[in-house]
Amino acid sequence: MRSYKEGIAYQYLKETKYDRESIFRRDDLGPIPRPSVYKNYPNADRVTLPKPAFEETESLWRILDQRRSRRHYTAEPISIQTLANLLWATQGITLSASEYQFRTAPSAGALYPVETYLSIHYVSDIRPGIYHYNILDFALEEITQGNFADRLARAALDQAMVAGGAALFIWTAIVLRSMWKYRNRCIRYIFMDAGHIAQNLQLAATALNLGCCPIGAFYDEEINQLLRIDGEEETAIYLAAVGNLSS
Ligand SMILES: Cc1cc2nc3c(=O)[nH]c(=O)nc-3n(C[C@H](O)[C@H](O)[C@H](O)COP(=O)(O)O)c2cc1C
Repeated sequence: MRSYKEGIAYQYLKETKYDRESIFRRDDLGPIPRPSVYKNYPNADRVTLPKPAFEETESLWRILDQRRSRRHYTAEPISIQTLANLLWATQGITLSASEYQFRTAPSAGALYPVETYLSIHYVSDIRPGIYHYNILDFALEEITQGNFADRLARAALDQAMVAGGAALFIWTAIVLRSMWKYRNRCIRYIFMDAGHIAQNLQLAATALNLGCCPIGAFYDEEINQLLRIDGEEETAIYLAAVGNLSS
């Protein structure tokens, strides 16, 4: 039996530490291609999202105090406007400067490796299905029609809240977007990026009086297959259920 210290977790942290010498040393990975910061599905049916619209009365301090992971939702649909607000909160573009578009959540090197997909279960004016969030166009691109709530709940280790939510956010990483610059250290940053995005979602959900729960427990390949991604260059990393709170 190996010591836990030789396991992949400690080894990864050890091998990807920066120190004053190694930071300038070339690794042995060879050239790494740099993909586009944006993914899109040009042939997909689209749902154009309404511009985000907010009540300006919510206090950040109250929202921080009230934020909690909530796992019980009603089957009452959320509106497309609510969904648009949530999507904008997670990764909406807030500033364009030269070739960069900056977003609501920070990203290491402004490389934005995290993509968002949605499984829509109960959202007014959007038929159930799996969608990709096109950030530049503020639109949803339909990947597959149908209600995948139960299948996703099973993929999330049978967590019933997944099926009960109005929608499930599914975040993936396009690893090369970060790797071409940060090499093996990129995995650290990718998960930090995802954490920022998920926190924005939970805070926005709290402000809108919705329930939301982040989910890290899932069968990776079952989610990847549903999204039709390869699980290597792009792979699911995090989920979050969202829905109207049951009292
Ligand atoms: C990375 C991560 C993964 C999580 N995965 C799950 C999960 O799979 N199922 C679940 O019920 N809660 C999950 N949670 C929610 C935590 O259980 C919750 O944040 C924790 O109990 C603290 O409660 P709070 O968020 O209400 O403050 C996850 C939270 C994080 C940050």
